[in-house]
Amino acid sequence: MAQKIIILDFGSQTTQLIGRRVRELDTFCEIMPYNKFPTDDPSVIGVILSGSPYSVHDPEAFKVDLTQFIGRVPVLGICYGAQYIAYSLGGKVEKTDSREYGRANLETIDFKNPLFKGFEVDAQVWMSHGDTITHIPDGFECIASTKDVKYAAYWCPPGTAVANSSPFTLHSSLHKGVFAVQFHPEVFHTLQGTQLLRNFVVDICGSRQEWSAASFVDTTVSELKKQIGRDRVILGLSGGVDSSVAAVLLNRAIGSQLTCIFVDHGLLRKNEFCQVMNDYKALGLNVIGVDASEKFFNDLKGVVEPEQKRKIIGRDFVEVFNAEARKITDAKWLAQGTIYPDRIESLNITGKVIKSHHNVGGLPKEMQLKLCEPLQWLFKDEVRLVGRQLEMPEHLIKRHPFPGPGLAVRILGDITPYKVHILQEADDIFIRGLREYVDTDGMTLYDKIWQAGVVLLSTIQTVGVMGDERTYEHPVALRAVTSTDAMTADWAHLPYDFMAKISSEIINKIQGVNRVCYDISSKPPATIEWE
Ligand code: XMP
Repeated sequence: MAQKIIILDFGSQTTQLIGRRVRELDTFCEIMPYNKFPTDDPSVIGVILSGSPYSVHDPEAFKVDLTQFIGRVPVLGICYGAQYIAYSLGGKVEKTDSREYGRANLETIDFKNPLFKGFEVDAQVWMSHGDTITHIPDGFECIASTKDVKYAAYWCPPGTAVANSSPFTLHSSLHKGVFAVQFHPEVFHTLQGTQLLRNFVVDICGSRQEWSAASFVDTTVSELKKQIGRDRVILGLSGGVDSSVAAVLLNRAIGSQLTCIFVDHGLLRKNEFCQVMNDYKALGLNVIGVDASEKFFNDLKGVVEPEQKRKIIGRDFVEVFNAEARKITDAKWLAQGTIYPDRIESLNITGKVIKSHHNVGGLPKEMQLKLCEPLQWLFKDEVRLVGRQLEMPEHLIKRHPFPGPGLAVRILGDITPYKVHILQEADDIFIRGLREYVDTDGMTLYDKIWQAGVVLLSTIQTVGVMGDERTYEHPVALRAVTSTDAMTADWAHLPYDFMAKISSEIINKIQGVNRVCYDISSKPPATIEWE
């Protein structure tokens, strides 16, 4: 029987992180809106309640009926989750002076408690809460405290009767253990957070830790075979990791029934179209490459406004893709490399809106294609593990994210083939440099950062001097960021000797550029792309 942990999302910024930590324990988990607990799913082995931006006392605070799972499976409440359990079962949560933000230490720990197996004295944890639990419900016991917070962790042992109290009535008197921690075990600064989650997921919930890239590939390939049968499938390739891994996985399941379409809008990196096409062919994929750059350049002529550029590129992309897709008259499925973070609504947990992430939109209606998204449960790092399991080349797996509209959103001002050419050359010097520079820890700069690129400030000209000549040309800005999910990002602290080398190489080799700047803005308040 399959096993899964359900993480109920009450809107915390770190809910996704809880999911990643559980997956790192080789255990499948699903993040669901707080009010969507799957009551009829027998594979659920435990429930984690996330934090929340709300206080339990806020009128709009998210509330859930705990009787759906307490009694059935072990439960762990984190931050708001811990407060909500206390508040719901007859304890007390109050606004007090003893709020805690940031690092704290567990001054007392019940080391015999299964949640704290392997914990060290004075363990460092990360707190972020305004309200404080001042009383725990009857039948519950305190199992850890900090200097300021008495109930840093508490539990109700399995098999104990839980008091009935407002606003919810617990029908089950014998239950599987309820655990609650005021701190955040999922964040890096809770130094033994992974140990705590392991104790909960593996020891307390009984995970067999069977979720791995190898098991994912095996089960997904056999499911895809069943799902698709002898049908034909179309997949849009972008050159990025997600769509490439999705294609290789489908290729393993259904082979020549898969047709991939890779559209060149003329705004890719230098030589990228050819290189990626060669990679795809070497992987045995059946790929149709479409050079549509002329159409895109024509339609983008004179357009300066970033959102308008995006709209035109999106529209043209759909047109070109659909024209190709229509030729495959017997296709029944459209496959996409959608991954889990694209789908979970960590900010909109009412379950209504899904981020409009699909690069392929507006499919030809008459084709009536069904959607196939084999990576829809995976986080980015898991997609990479699956790619390795499928023996894909490292340079494809480690490729940085690249925006769908390509270099168009890295040229300030209107787009021309000449400007794209200048930018491709500068970008190539920068990216090649990042790949070649091995840092003191043995990793290349390319592998250490999330994403990098060059921005051409084509609306600006600056004065320079080359030999005896005055120049009046464009500056470029280098952008390199570290991040884990592109939601937030910091500018990468690249070595000065590296920046000096790249700067002089760009200015010396590329006609049209006479100044190089480095973008030292973090996200927020800036974004990764300039447009
Ligand atoms: P921002 O600029 O919003 O970018 O910080 C976050 C991540 O998304 C990528 N990005 C895009 N990807 N279409 C895409 O497919 C787009 O229009 C687009 N704009 C930004 C960006 O490169 C970064 O990885």
